[in-house]
Amino acid sequence: MTQVLSVTSECVPLVKTGGLADVAGALPDALAPLGADLRTLLPGYRAVMAACGTAPAVLHWPDLMGGPARVLHAALGARALYVLDAPHLFDRAGSPYLDADGRDWPDNPRRFAALSLAAVRIAATGIEGWVPQVLHLHDWQAGLVPVYLAEAGIAGRVGTLMTVHNIAFQGLAPAASRGELGLPESGFTPEGYEYFGQISALKAGLALSDAITTVSPTYAAELMTPEFGMGLDGVLRHRQAHLSGVLNGIDTGVWGAPYKTPQGKRRHKAALRAQLGLPDGDGPLCVVVSRMSAQKGLDLLLAVAPALLGQGAQLAVLGSGDADLEKRFGDLAAHPGAAVRIGYDEALSHLMMAGGDAILVPSRFEPCGLTQLYGLAHGTLPVVARTGGLADTVIDANPAAQAMGVATGFQFAPVTAEALAVALSRMMQVWQAPDQWRRMQRNAMRQLVGWAVAAAEYARLYQGLVRN
Ligand code: ADP
Ligand code: GLC
Repeated sequence: MTQVLSVTSECVPLVKTGGLADVAGALPDALAPLGADLRTLLPGYRAVMAACGTAPAVLHWPDLMGGPARVLHAALGARALYVLDAPHLFDRAGSPYLDADGRDWPDNPRRFAALSLAAVRIAATGIEGWVPQVLHLHDWQAGLVPVYLAEAGIAGRVGTLMTVHNIAFQGLAPAASRGELGLPESGFTPEGYEYFGQISALKAGLALSDAITTVSPTYAAELMTPEFGMGLDGVLRHRQAHLSGVLNGIDTGVWGAPYKTPQGKRRHKAALRAQLGLPDGDGPLCVVVSRMSAQKGLDLLLAVAPALLGQGAQLAVLGSGDADLEKRFGDLAAHPGAAVRIGYDEALSHLMMAGGDAILVPSRFEPCGLTQLYGLAHGTLPVVARTGGLADTVIDANPAAQAMGVATGFQFAPVTAEALAVALSRMMQVWQAPDQWRRMQRNAMRQLVGWAVAAAEYARLYQGLVRN
């Protein structure tokens, strides 16, 4: 068994702001049959602590970045979950990253430095007799791990795999907080954790981890370009030999369709329309389930929505985030063919996948994207920007793919409102040809979107990182 500690700032079913939580939650079960004992280390946010009330404390530290801390042994399904209980850092109302006004918690660098340091202490001493051989680091929140490993003098016996879920979040902190974060002066260099005069936790992870993955092959290639690298493309080009793309899967137990054939959709579509107050109609019901942020390109959708609705399609949107986007979608809901729900609603997101005809994902960049995968599994045809994991998972209904009968959705490029409008018109054309539409639905539902392929790849990577 390879013993792996997965270090993450979110994990379903306990705490989720985006796809990272789904991935972190699915990996342990996906890896278990492949000989990896993957345990998860998660901050003890208030909601997490409430969910693991009686879990025993198995480690105690009198001081972790300014206060006492414990590690609880809780459960993630059948697997061990280690919860970092450090009330001075995590016991507060609000989201994992933001205060009630939507601003980053000012002590975020320290909070997640503490998570990283806790992982290293666990690697140093073991926990309940279990000693991780590999640390799997998710995003900037775990990026400082290699720095602390070196400080602890155990970098040589623990392998590190850094996974980039989103390069837009880089874990920046002022240079002056080096002391507070316990970072060695010697590492404050362009080869280390320094980034243009600041500390960057993500940069540290990228520069110093043994291996790096991101969540799709296309995003791996994109990350090495100035257009997508967000300033870190140079670091990634430098580490190209150690970088690969491992496409995410989805938990098909949770996200499988509640029907086996495209026809099964009808009942769910009626239920979805009823729940959203949308009238019956002959056009396709297009759905969106998304964070509302600039990344997701929803402003492009707003620009073309009137034309789409004018062609007889309906649009159902579930999301929250950016106040301006929330308001503009709220205004769109005045149209009789549009329904908008601002907020986070797991049950409704399932019904939208099951009842929708098409799912729209016009992202400007998308490391992997999960909702197009849910769409495929439900025969809800994805209309996606040709970028990142969206490019890797959807087969565009161009004439060649249609002739060969292999298409599963619609891609557009460049990521502009004009190109999106063209893709939506192509979608409307196929909608007018029900045989073609059903064929695409069947292709989509047959596509393998589970974790098997990625799990095998992670198992191989972990094994390669084990030191003797
Ligand atoms: P990202 O992680 O960038 O937000 P992903 O597509 O990887 O994008 O993952 C988003 C996840 O969050 C999906 O599981 C999606 O269903 C879910 N999600 C996003 N917004 C909402 C919402 N408003 N209600 C319910 N689920 C949502
Ligand atoms: C990030 C990305 C998303 C990806 C998810 C899980 O949040 O934005 O594309 O699917 O992580 O890896």
